[in-house]
Amino acid sequence: MDFIIWLLAILLTACGTTVCFEIYRRWRKYAPGPMNYPLIGALPKIVAAHGIVGPFRAWADRYGDVFSFRMGPYEAVVLNDPALIREVFNKDVVSGRPQLPIIKLRSELNGNSHGIIMAEGQHWREHRRFTLQTMRDLGMGRAGMQQKIIEEVGEFIDALKKDGLREDFDYKIPLHATVANIISRVLSGARYDKNDANFLRFVDNVQDALREDNAKFLWNILPWTRVFLRKTQKSVFRRTKEIAVFIDGVCKQKFGDVTEQALKLSNATGRDDVTVDFMERYVHTVQAKQLSSFTMNGLGLMVEDMFEAGFDTSNCTLHWAFLLMCAYPEVQKTVQLELDHIVPQNTIPSVSDNYPLPYYEATLLEVHRFASIVPTGIGHRVEKDMTINGYFVPEDTWVIANLHYVHFSEKYWSHPEVFDPSRFIDGEGKFVTSDKVMPFSVGKRRCVGEALAKAEVYMILAAVLQRFTLQINGRLDLTQTRGLVCDTQHHLINFIPR
Ligand code: HEM
Repeated sequence: MDFIIWLLAILLTACGTTVCFEIYRRWRKYAPGPMNYPLIGALPKIVAAHGIVGPFRAWADRYGDVFSFRMGPYEAVVLNDPALIREVFNKDVVSGRPQLPIIKLRSELNGNSHGIIMAEGQHWREHRRFTLQTMRDLGMGRAGMQQKIIEEVGEFIDALKKDGLREDFDYKIPLHATVANIISRVLSGARYDKNDANFLRFVDNVQDALREDNAKFLWNILPWTRVFLRKTQKSVFRRTKEIAVFIDGVCKQKFGDVTEQALKLSNATGRDDVTVDFMERYVHTVQAKQLSSFTMNGLGLMVEDMFEAGFDTSNCTLHWAFLLMCAYPEVQKTVQLELDHIVPQNTIPSVSDNYPLPYYEATLLEVHRFASIVPTGIGHRVEKDMTINGYFVPEDTWVIANLHYVHFSEKYWSHPEVFDPSRFIDGEGKFVTSDKVMPFSVGKRRCVGEALAKAEVYMILAAVLQRFTLQINGRLDLTQTRGLVCDTQHHLINFIPR
């Protein structure tokens, strides 16, 4: 009897709290949204759906351009309209990042530094300005960088020539090495062998880090679930540490230990070729003492951030591009004919060549829309109370851009589920871009690697289609994996020489 009374009391308290909380939200003019339960908010619906893309789509259809909900202790607002995302993400006050336990762990494992992706305030502003300037100076999207990409693409093409028709050939293994080596050359100048076990383990860890499952998600959002999720906690900790150790090795390999570092630093300032790669530029900035947030401690996490953001994203986009060419052979054929017709033989076209390739450009934009590899971007955090579309948004609320919804809503596209590059071709056969395709997000925290990513995808896909016809080897499945970065399902492709 006592037990039933207790149960009833708990249920009544839960219902009462839920109702009071909903009344409070309406009174404060929070954006509409799904029912939030005490302690857990709307998490059960997200966990039951094994990810946020499905529930976010349903809630956007139901509540319109903006909805809000709670995830455990965190309040979140989701934006579903491209113009609204642009307007809100251009405000300084929306430039913070949610500080989850995993972010604190990464920071602790890297000498309490902050990197760039999850940094905030003055530290973020200085590191972002430095990164944009450095990427520009290193020639992103221009000839210098393109030459490096051409060298790496050469190795990938060789692997396809050698093994592209083998039944069990997995093109993703040499592709990973190619993409990882491009970003690695930008950062440190180092190259890795595609069979280097240490490097492959690092790459696996980076991919794992970006592919969340429900357990990892809950571990971060609801601290008390850690009691039940010890295994998950252990694996997150192990992986985060291994990544930090690998990056530390990269720094040591380049600059030696701390004493040698000081020596190298003083040498570097006297040289005029310090712009040679990202790490040298960073060290030079520390030495120059012009930016207060730059310290030698900060180098590791900065390199880790750039590698994590720059590797799996370009990688997954290419997986999607290759798979979509198999799924839509008529698109593949049209791109091949256009490349054959316009680009001189034995030349890999690059963005800056400005070849008139409207159908190819339309295909690349459609790949970005269709793949939507970062479906909800990276969360922002509101640094001061504000309003969005007239709704109250308190300090510390997460603001999320529902990019997948924008890319797939019938409000903005006809037949969004169909991969159709011709939606970006006008009546005169010219390429017309669209501000509703926003894979790199928009505003103050827009991706800093956009030019590099675009150059890589443009050159690698063109080089492959110039030389091979792609055919799926097995069942075709166009469903996305889940996580912060969403990949294709595992697949094999035959690369048939043309
Ligand atoms: C197709 C490839 C890529 C896609 C789709 C992509 C997408 C994104 C998105 C959606 C964001 C979040 C922006 C926001 O918070 O509003 C982002 C941030 C970022 N990306 Fe990329 N990215 C790609 C490639 C790259 C590359 C190659 C690099 C590095 C070389 C890079 C470095 C970064 C960094 C450092 C940030 C954080 C910027 C900040 O917080 O200020 N990304 N990216």
